[in-house]
Amino acid sequence: MVSVARLKRLVQGLTLVAVAAYTTIVLYQSMSTAASSSRGPSRQQVSGWQERAPRSISKDYDAINSNIILPVADPAAVHRSHNAKVTRKTSESDTNYNNVVLATGTSRPVGTQLSDVFISVKTTRNYHKWRLPVILKTWFQLAKDQTWFFTDSDDLEYQEKTNGHMVNTNCSSSHNRKALCCKMSVEFDVFLETGKKWFCHFDDDNYVNVPRLVRLLADYSPQEDWYLGKPSIRAPLEILNRDKSAQKISFWFATGGAGFCLSRSLALKMIPVASGGKFISIGEKIRLPDDVTMGYIIEHLLRKPLTVIDQFHSHLEPMKFLRQDTFHDQITFSYSHYSRDEMNVVKIDGFNKRIDPTRFLSIHCFLFSYSSFCPR
Ligand SMILES: *[C@@H]1O[C@H](CO)[C@@H](O)[C@H](O)[C@H]1NC(C)=O
Repeated sequence: MVSVARLKRLVQGLTLVAVAAYTTIVLYQSMSTAASSSRGPSRQQVSGWQERAPRSISKDYDAINSNIILPVADPAAVHRSHNAKVTRKTSESDTNYNNVVLATGTSRPVGTQLSDVFISVKTTRNYHKWRLPVILKTWFQLAKDQTWFFTDSDDLEYQEKTNGHMVNTNCSSSHNRKALCCKMSVEFDVFLETGKKWFCHFDDDNYVNVPRLVRLLADYSPQEDWYLGKPSIRAPLEILNRDKSAQKISFWFATGGAGFCLSRSLALKMIPVASGGKFISIGEKIRLPDDVTMGYIIEHLLRKPLTVIDQFHSHLEPMKFLRQDTFHDQITFSYSHYSRDEMNVVKIDGFNKRIDPTRFLSIHCFLFSYSSFCPR
């Protein structure tokens, strides 16, 4: 499929990016070591909040044409895909990108599309038959080609139901730190291979409002460094730096259970520290779960701030406080069991609770009433 020459070009490009990123990190680390006595943890307090990316035609245009930053994408293919979208009605699929920008004249020439997004869902073998059916029936239908399930066993039944989108990570099925970091590590590596512009991670108890997710990402440039998600703690996490005893470091992290997204630009900068299984080593070193490890790598090691997106929701939040008239604007929903009989679920009229205990069917019909199983 991919020609040898192209593969070689790709490897060369990736190596270059990796070396550059590594050099930056080494430089950064030596700098921060030198400055460690003068810099306390005070910086981090404000770092979780950042304004949206200013977008401009010229910026996106330059990035695409220089084709240094885009790692895998064949620039010609990028042109083609943009043309395909912007000028779908005409048959001039070979007009160059220049013309398209001029022709559309909108402030969003590089409209992010669903096909630019890689969606990973973390699951485990015991949850396949409990948690996947409602996902497959609802939001998966809106992102079948983009969504992949990362699990820990081979499951022929679900391999078929997902059109071959189950990935056996070969990680342990226990819910411990190492197994979780192991899966995240595989998710990250598989994303890198796809060449997509955005990596979005979710859990198997998330409902993802797919069009809303795409609209969110369209507000940010994948050629800039973006870590989009929602913390579940009120202050940055403080841990002791194991390298330098008794030195405190603090950072924000996006709760994995609410979902988070990384731009390709940021993911590329993470390659030297987090790819090829290195993510697991870092998790082991700081002895914290996968989502915290992600925050540590991005905020602490790479010094890139988390951008808080309030419309992500994990089961750590009480779902009943979400107002139905805002559902169209929410990006994720979740559920959990408070006790045997009481569940933390979204408050919504719709299907009977026996048929729809998670409320995901009802949410889906509220958002997309045309779906085949929705009442008319
Ligand atoms: C898991 O192991 C199988 C069999 O050894 C292998 O084919 C597959 O590529 C592995 N999966 C990953 C994600 O490494």
